[in-house]
Amino acid sequence: MYTEKVMDHFMNPRNVGEIENADGVGEVGNVKCGDIMRIYIKVNGDIIEDVKFKTFGCGSAIAASSVATELIMGKTVEEALKLTNKQVVDELGGLPPVKIHCSVLAEQALKAAIYDYATKNDLHYEALKDFD
Ligand code: FES
Ligand code: FES
Repeated sequence: MYTEKVMDHFMNPRNVGEIENADGVGEVGNVKCGDIMRIYIKVNGDIIEDVKFKTFGCGSAIAASSVATELIMGKTVEEALKLTNKQVVDELGGLPPVKIHCSVLAEQALKAAIYDYATKNDLHYEALKDFD
C-alpha cells in the first residue's frame, strides 16, 4: 500500500522540529481528519535557508511534510511557491488515493508559512493571491 520512500520518510522524517525566530510560520489543519501541520521557514535574502516541520497527523502527512521540506530547502521563495502536492506525491513514489489530501496539507502549510513571511516583510507574490 505504501512505497518504500513513504515508509522511509515516515520512520525517519527529515527536518523535524521548529525554528526559533522563524521568518515565517504556517499552520494548517484538515477538518476531516483533524490532522495538523506546522511549517517554519528561515529566509536569507531570497533563499529558504532552513525549513522545519511539526506534524500531528497520519504517516502520509508526516512523510509528505518531510519530503516537502527537502524539496524546498535552499530554493528561492518563488521556487518554493511552485511546489505542488502532485510533486510531493511523485517524490514519494505515490500515495493511496484516500491519502492524497495529506500531501495537499504540506503544500498548504508551506504556502501559509511563506504568506506569513511575505506579510511581515510587505512582499507580494502572485502565487499567494488566494491568501489575501
Ligand atoms: Fe487518523 Fe489522520 S485521520 S491519522
Ligand atoms: Fe489527514 Fe493524513 S489522514 S493528513
